[in-house]
Amino acid sequence: MSLTEPPPPVPGPGPGTVADEAAGQLRDRISADSLTTRRDYLRIVATVSGGLAIGGVGVASGILHRHGDSETLPRAKKVTDQLAPGESVAFRFPGDEDRALAVRLSDGSLVGYSAVCTHLACAVLWREDRGTDGELYCPCHEGVFDARTGEVTAGPPPRPLPRIFLTEENDGSVWAVATARSGEPAKEALCRQFGASRPDVAGMLGCPGADRATGSRRT
Ligand code: FES
Repeated sequence: MSLTEPPPPVPGPGPGTVADEAAGQLRDRISADSLTTRRDYLRIVATVSGGLAIGGVGVASGILHRHGDSETLPRAKKVTDQLAPGESVAFRFPGDEDRALAVRLSDGSLVGYSAVCTHLACAVLWREDRGTDGELYCPCHEGVFDARTGEVTAGPPPRPLPRIFLTEENDGSVWAVATARSGEPAKEALCRQFGASRPDVAGMLGCPGADRATGSRRT
C-alpha cells in the first residue's frame, strides 16, 4: 500500500498495514537519526508510556503494567482525523487504559507521548502557551517535559515521558503504530516490537539479526 492510500479501518499486523508503511519510513528516519517528520509526508513521531515513580519495582517484578508499553507490536490505532498546529488530542494506546497525548507543534511536527507522568502518574497536559514550543505539563507537582523530546525540564519527574510513534496519512489522519519505553532509543524500541511478528519490517529497519535483503531473521 502506498503512503498516499488511506489506512484500513483497523489495520492488522500483516503486510500492507499502516505499521508496515510506517516501518519503511522509520527506516529512513532512523538513518537520518531523527523521528520528527514534516507535514508534507508520513510522520513518525515518538511518544508515550510512562509509569509510576514507584511502579518501576512493580514493573520489574511483573506486578504492574508498564504504562504505554507493549512488548509486541501493538495494533495500529487511529488517533484523529486531523490535528492542527498548536492542538493536541488525548487517546489511549497501546491498551485501552494507556493514556496518551498527540500534539502538533507550531512548526507542523507531530509528537506523541504517554500522558502518564513519570513521577506519580498524574495526567500530563499540553500547554501551548508555555515555552517556545509549548510544554507538556503535570499540574500535580509542577512537572514539565520538553514537547519535542519528552525529556524532563522541571519538577520531580525522574524519567522522560515514554514516546509513541505516530504516522500521518496524506488525508491528514494520525495513527499510533508503536511505542518506546522511557528513554529507549527509537530503533531499539521498534526492533523490539516489529522483530518478532514482522521480520520483514525488522529487515527494513536494519534490526540486529534481521536480513536486510529478505527481511527474514537469521537463526
Ligand atoms: Fe507529575 Fe508529580 S505526578 S509531577
